[in-house]
Amino acid sequence: MSRFERSNIARMQGYSFGEQPDDPFVVKLNTNENPYPPSPAVQQALLKVDVSRLRVYPPPTANSLRDLIAAQHGLKREQILLTNGGDEALRLAITTFVEPAAAIGYTDPSYSLYPVLADIHDASISSVRLKYDWSIPDDYAARMNEDGVDLSCIVNPHAPSGTLVALPQIETIANALNGVLLLDEAYVDFVDPELGHDSTRLLERCDNLLILRSFSKGYGLAGLRLGYLMGSAELIDPLINKTRDSYNVDTLTQILGSAAFADQTYARSTWDRVRQDREKLVVELTALGLHCPPSQSNFVLAQIPAGSNFSAAQTYQALKESNILVRFFNAPRLDDKLRITVGTADQNQQLCDALRKILQ
Ligand SMILES: Cc1ncc(COP(=O)(O)O)c(C=O)c1O
Repeated sequence: MSRFERSNIARMQGYSFGEQPDDPFVVKLNTNENPYPPSPAVQQALLKVDVSRLRVYPPPTANSLRDLIAAQHGLKREQILLTNGGDEALRLAITTFVEPAAAIGYTDPSYSLYPVLADIHDASISSVRLKYDWSIPDDYAARMNEDGVDLSCIVNPHAPSGTLVALPQIETIANALNGVLLLDEAYVDFVDPELGHDSTRLLERCDNLLILRSFSKGYGLAGLRLGYLMGSAELIDPLINKTRDSYNVDTLTQILGSAAFADQTYARSTWDRVRQDREKLVVELTALGLHCPPSQSNFVLAQIPAGSNFSAAQTYQALKESNILVRFFNAPRLDDKLRITVGTADQNQQLCDALRKILQ
């Protein structure tokens, strides 16, 4: 450890990444990527790239992509900020809205990057334990306010359970909070359209609400690093004009991200397939005795049955030895479960066949 590190950096642990194997034959169900490639329009756009454009800096605020996104959501350009993945959006929100000695809040469990970002900022943490069914306790906002939380993050659909909180509860929480509510919708594309779940409607009524979206899951572009925030023009303004890096989204990402976003028909077809395969996967896992809470995401959280020969940790290891990667969290409430990304129908079948052999 370097003696030059700030004391909070010296004390903290970094983020633990899910494994990213080089072997293309690994059945990779551990980091919630889309099992389908991005739109063919992305490949075409890449082939058309004139590399001499890379000599100059990118459009600094990526306005043409902002306009595409704004039109899709019925918002104004000033309400959109593009970022280098959703992760940069989280970091920027903390830099912009959390006073140095104040607190960052979230539910427990939640996205494991939140505490890491809080440690980097040297902020204190306020975490509120989710109820038994993964729902948010009614006193969530009151507890955040008591702890002096400047920025509170709620993942919806929730990670790692995949469950969805209905929008009236999100609106009640936003209105009761003293600080900013960052609604992390990295997985929202996989919500059943019949539910009519559209949080952008809340932006008119909640001036402290920021909504995060990612191209990593819904658009099959985890390798590109693109995400965005939506909020009132007043909330977005300091992020765009003060705290972000001058050119935080590079030229290629702007071009390829625009091609992917413009092809909504293709993206939506991958979301439909994932939803259909999610339902089938849950039926198979349930038949094997694994309990899964209702998921509106592209993953399921499967509980290993109590009397089984193998613990969740051992099942994770045995699957890995069969070339199948899933995610195991050695944490309270999660250490008897596996988080499994919904793969292609064939990948899901391989997983279920391997689990059948391991557990029976
Ligand atoms: C809950 C949640 N939020 C945000 C992100 C950030 O996604 P990205 O930086 O790939 O856009 C992730 C990534 O896994 C996530 O799980």
